[in-house]
Amino acid sequence: MTSTVGPTDHGTAGIPEFPMARAAGRPLDPPPALRELQAETPLTRVRLWDGSTPWLVTRYADQRAVLGDRRVSADMTHPTYPRQAPGNATLSFIGMDDPEHARLRRMVGSAFAVKHVAAMRPAVQKVVDDALDAVLAGPNPVDLVEAFALPVPSLVICDLLDVPYRDHDFFQHNSRILINRDTTPEDRTAASTVLADYLGRLVVAKLDHPGDDLLSRLGERIKAGELTVQGATEMAVLLLIAGHETTANMIALSTVALLSHPDQLALLRDTDDPAVATNAVEELLRYLNITHGGRRRVALEDVEVAGQLVRAGEGLVLPNDIANRDPEAFPDPDRLDLTRRARHHVAFGFGVHQCLGQPLARLELEVVYRTLYRRLPDLRLAVDFDDIPFKHDGFVYGVYELPVAW
Ligand code: HEM
Repeated sequence: MTSTVGPTDHGTAGIPEFPMARAAGRPLDPPPALRELQAETPLTRVRLWDGSTPWLVTRYADQRAVLGDRRVSADMTHPTYPRQAPGNATLSFIGMDDPEHARLRRMVGSAFAVKHVAAMRPAVQKVVDDALDAVLAGPNPVDLVEAFALPVPSLVICDLLDVPYRDHDFFQHNSRILINRDTTPEDRTAASTVLADYLGRLVVAKLDHPGDDLLSRLGERIKAGELTVQGATEMAVLLLIAGHETTANMIALSTVALLSHPDQLALLRDTDDPAVATNAVEELLRYLNITHGGRRRVALEDVEVAGQLVRAGEGLVLPNDIANRDPEAFPDPDRLDLTRRARHHVAFGFGVHQCLGQPLARLELEVVYRTLYRRLPDLRLAVDFDDIPFKHDGFVYGVYELPVAW
């Protein structure tokens, strides 16, 4: 029998609870129960923390169909939206529908466009090089999360927004509270309030002293009457959190995956060909799926999903971890293969809400993969694999600490 870690598998009424537990000893694979459902019951009810029973969609093709369907809403204020946790705050346009979603997204879109992000490559490379210089000059072993994975994307998004990096303990701490499933509603509200107060003050300061940064661009929209200070602040909170927590977890979790697949790590470490890292980014995103709580949606009209009727008002949960391991979309899906063509994965979501920051995330990960394992060619875990603390309780999956030596 498979033993499990994390929450229990089955609710009292026979409807499985979601999220489901990963198998013990297999922290990089999706929960076995999801795999069984994908093979046998691609649309099924699941029970969430609040007792609600939205539909769970497990197959890759069905998830893309739902996420591309305009009759399906991402409105987090909808009464039957399947929330990840109590007190789960609305985060700007990620939880809105078009046309307002598109209007707000466009205001910051150009900063994350491929062309603009490409020009950031030298700056990102310098951030990575400097962080590694500090790692090499510091204690050995070290916690790679604290020393490298968290600082790199935090420095990059701080620069883009012009948020002072010296405040990183404050914003990283409060972001962590916000994206933990077990946070109480009171603590979530408190963390959300202090972050909003902090970023609101920075936005207001930009009204009088604008610079060449994203918060100043939001200030211009406020002056033009297109955005309120509160709207700009909510957007800034979204960008700051999404901009550092996600990529930080990908960096640390990729390193865990590569250290436990030494043949794949060697592909990255032993080449000068940049295309290897570019491809590795897609495969590691497909394989690891840090946003493991899945996309959340609610049907606004009756829609057909996996050959069944989902009625208007019913919630939908779409876990990308299992979609990205669907054998119909990715042959031999449980094999980590850095040479695989995996760019059609749904790790960045799909449809109008597909990750706005994906060009930046791709750039950061590519630079890290090309640099970290070559500068630390003897990198190894400084603890047993079984002692790595995985974030089973996070909205974003990853590791709390990654003690490594070299
Ligand atoms: C490896 C890193 C990342 C992963 C795996 C990731 C994943 C995702 C996913 C799955 C969504 C879709 C949410 C949904 O459909 O409900 C999303 C949306 C979003 N992401 Fe990312 N993300 C990453 C990095 C970033 C970065 C660096 C930023 C920069 C600020 C960012 C900003 C956003 C924003 C603003 C949205 C909302 C888009 C919208 O609703 O139109 N993300 N991300």
